[in-house]
Amino acid sequence: MNAPDTLSRWATPGSSRVPFWAYTDAQLYQRELDKIFYGAHWCYVGLEAEIPNTGDFKLSFVGERQVIMVRDRVAPRDRGTDSGVRVVENRCAHRGVRFCQQPHGNARSFVCPYHQWTYKLNGELAGLPFKDGVKDGECVNGGMPADFDLKANGLTRLRVAVLHGLVFATFSDTAEPLEDYLGADVMPWLDRIFKGRQLTLLGYNRQRIPGNWKLMMENIKDPYHPGLLHTWFVTFGLWRADQKSRMVMDAHGRHAVMISRRNEGGQNTAVTEGVTSFKANMTLHDDRLLDVVPEPWWKIPDPQKRGEDIMPTVTMITLFPSLIIQQQVNSLSTRHIVPRGEGEFDFVWTHFGFADDTPEMTQRRLRQANLFGPAGFVSADDGEVIEFSQDGFRQAGEGGSTLCELGGTGTEMTEHMVTETLIRSMYAYWKKVMAV
Ligand code: FES
Ligand code: FE
Repeated sequence: MNAPDTLSRWATPGSSRVPFWAYTDAQLYQRELDKIFYGAHWCYVGLEAEIPNTGDFKLSFVGERQVIMVRDRVAPRDRGTDSGVRVVENRCAHRGVRFCQQPHGNARSFVCPYHQWTYKLNGELAGLPFKDGVKDGECVNGGMPADFDLKANGLTRLRVAVLHGLVFATFSDTAEPLEDYLGADVMPWLDRIFKGRQLTLLGYNRQRIPGNWKLMMENIKDPYHPGLLHTWFVTFGLWRADQKSRMVMDAHGRHAVMISRRNEGGQNTAVTEGVTSFKANMTLHDDRLLDVVPEPWWKIPDPQKRGEDIMPTVTMITLFPSLIIQQQVNSLSTRHIVPRGEGEFDFVWTHFGFADDTPEMTQRRLRQANLFGPAGFVSADDGEVIEFSQDGFRQAGEGGSTLCELGGTGTEMTEHMVTETLIRSMYAYWKKVMAV
């Protein structure tokens, strides 16, 4: 599909009605990969804490392209300025083999199994068998052309930016610096969780969700559903429509932060009356699951309101196109969206804590992680409704669209959660990128 088609096909003004084909069109999806995932955007690949030692590596994805995040050797004089983190594509420069099969490990170099081309940790080609041919008496048979340049034939190396231990990469030479890409409105919310902290890795969950990748972004930009879909949230008061909340976005509307503060005690029947997911008589057999302990770092000077402090209990950060960072009370995770065609994506959860956590806090974070992940008391619901959404879009064909007008049709920040503004702002940006 060419660019004008995208625009003329989106018949309604604004971004409050998203056509179903935006989720189901296979050609459009290929264009999304090029424009968004392989274009001038920064994509999350992992945490620095996953590769603490020289030679440590981990497989990850940028869009559908598999990459290796690896810690390279760094000369002592460069240690202040070079993190040593490299991201290279897992695709041999010789005949295109996806050579690395180990999900993570430690290596001195990477060797492709097919013809044993060998790459340094930074992706440079170190050598290859029979480069100068094979001697047969006085003559030499074969070999690479005399002007074959090792330096010009390494792996594809991505640009890398590390922010507070979060590793991002891009195939683009023109993507702006990462901090500009994230924007001044979002940065304080990343600083709040990560700045100056050493992360510890607590574990992974993985799931495959049969829906379009954008649905996952929408889900975490949608403050309307948690107090309705999630029995757990509404029953135990972790998220309710009357909580003090704020919807923040970057200047382009592509990234967002949903910020909210859990109410202290008390039932507000206005937000539970008639809500069938609210189960007044549901109790926990093990109430340690909700043994919430406030942490000092939750409270920060309000970045959006000078002179005031703010202390949310939950911040859900969506960094376009493929990262969600979740803080829900004491549980922390990154969630990486890996698209697999227009109708499916892998969702990889990395649960983390901080190096100075007490053993009790680590236990608490791990227990609260049971709310999330594929079988999480809360998150299982999201995976399921995303599948149902994709099913609904498919059966409608070309004609239909979603209706996303809670709180109007605008794309502004709000001080409440009864709005779909963040979804509209993402699609306003998406339309721009896809039409360029
Ligand atoms: Fe990798 Fe030949 S394909 S060495
Ligand atoms: Fe949800």
